[in-house]
Amino acid sequence: MNEKQRMQSQQVQAEKPADKKSEKDYSKYFQAVYVPPSLKDAKKRGKEEVKYEKDFAIPEEFRGMGEGKRFYIRTYGCQMNEHDTEVMAGIFMALGYEACESVQEADVILLNTCAIRENAENKVFGELGHLKPLKLEKPDLLIGVCGCMSQEESVVNRILAKHHFVDMIFGTHNIHRLPQILNEAYMSKEMVIEVWSKEGDVIENLPKVRKGQTKAWVNIMYGCDKFCTYCIVPYTRGKERSRRPEEIIQEVRHLASQGYKEITLLGQNVNAYGKDFTDLDYRLGDLMDEIRKIDIPRVRFTTSHPRDFDDHLIEVLAKGGNLVDHIHLPVQSGSTDILKIMARKYTREHYLELVRKIKAAIPNVSLTTDIIVGYPNETEEQFEETISLYKEVGFDAAYTFIYSPREGTPAAKMKDNVPLEIKKDRLQRLNAIVNEFSAQKMKEYAGKVVEVLVEGESKNNPEVLAGYTTKNKLVNFKAPKSVIGQVVKVKITETRTWSLNGEWVEEAAAVKVD
Ligand code: 5AD
Ligand code: SF4
Repeated sequence: MNEKQRMQSQQVQAEKPADKKSEKDYSKYFQAVYVPPSLKDAKKRGKEEVKYEKDFAIPEEFRGMGEGKRFYIRTYGCQMNEHDTEVMAGIFMALGYEACESVQEADVILLNTCAIRENAENKVFGELGHLKPLKLEKPDLLIGVCGCMSQEESVVNRILAKHHFVDMIFGTHNIHRLPQILNEAYMSKEMVIEVWSKEGDVIENLPKVRKGQTKAWVNIMYGCDKFCTYCIVPYTRGKERSRRPEEIIQEVRHLASQGYKEITLLGQNVNAYGKDFTDLDYRLGDLMDEIRKIDIPRVRFTTSHPRDFDDHLIEVLAKGGNLVDHIHLPVQSGSTDILKIMARKYTREHYLELVRKIKAAIPNVSLTTDIIVGYPNETEEQFEETISLYKEVGFDAAYTFIYSPREGTPAAKMKDNVPLEIKKDRLQRLNAIVNEFSAQKMKEYAGKVVEVLVEGESKNNPEVLAGYTTKNKLVNFKAPKSVIGQVVKVKITETRTWSLNGEWVEEAAAVKVD
């Protein structure tokens, strides 16, 4: 299907119902004209080659569309969404809009949503409830829902039935069409729904307004083909598509020349980078090996999948330099049986062996992870295997979650005999260990000098500055504001469970011991 056909099948403008129409009429009306997004279609992985579109440009007729208007984007979820927001902000600015700091000031509000767990979705529906009075007060206000939730048929139907003050719904593959979608929303005063279930092409040169001037995200690939049985991402983000190395390297060089101090290479499954190239044998290790030569102080990547984490990558990371000594390596569970049901395609032993190799190559490495507890039918013994794996690896930190069924995924169909109370108890027990390990790791910093990339004022106290070490430890300290955006040395005077306090050290006296 080409772009035009896809648009015809997916973009629908339906007349807004007269005020007095009931919700039922409204929803019936939409069911008749509307082609919903389909998770089933989103699951398909075709053999067709990824097309690269090099020259994104704002069409002539839309230039100046935003003159005198303000936009506000609320972002939920992962770094990929944060970065998509930067792209959408870039498109808004290119259209002549100005950014604003609150929904009250805005002429267009977008909710860039996350579908990973049910509570992420609940937050968005809660926010829609809050926005309704604003829309009633300001009928010209445009409200849009985009991001991962828009890719779900059930979400789109719920918005149609219950939140018909929403003006636009568009999907993760339709971001570059924001000018056209806004134009439709203005011109026809109709609700615009444009969600392509199948992934789009890789589009380069999209404008971006980055959130900070110190750290920057750089997409290296889109989508995920892993289909872990709990996860909605392969459906909402489409198949794996890697950006060409030369485009990535050019972007990183450009960021370095603009004075950025840290970049994070982004992908749902960065270890699959390059697998989709048909003309090139080039993987994440090769990319990191080139990026390491670029003059930028810190380079990270996220998120890794243990299955494709190869020896060459470890070898390259061991070269150090600007490649940081921190790896986020989601394990999800310490039980081989659960990992099998999750379709993670590695065993506990394989994961531990990978950790052993990484530690041998990078002795001082900091490892963090993601863990899901309470998977369908997880036994106490299987949960304890997760605890024992946590201890064995000695993670610095972890994001921990209770399993949340996602409609359309295989796990959502599994019968589950684990009561919620047990799941909550397991989460608490795991978190106690996570906190204990974090506090312990932090204690090792007492009296030491660390290098901190200063991000700005501390959230809790404007008198204090905050920044992160290469291992991603939050450090608070007092220093002149002029050091914001710089890498400085700080002597640690107090350690806490999740942060370090310290004193700024004048350059000459400092020796890095982190
Ligand atoms: N339920 C709970 N946690 C989930 N994650 C992904 N899908 C689910 C789900 N259905 C977690 C995984 C992943 C992180 C980003 O979110 O741990 O690594
Ligand atoms: Fe989801 Fe698994 Fe892909 Fe990560 S690797 S995005 S958990 S399917």
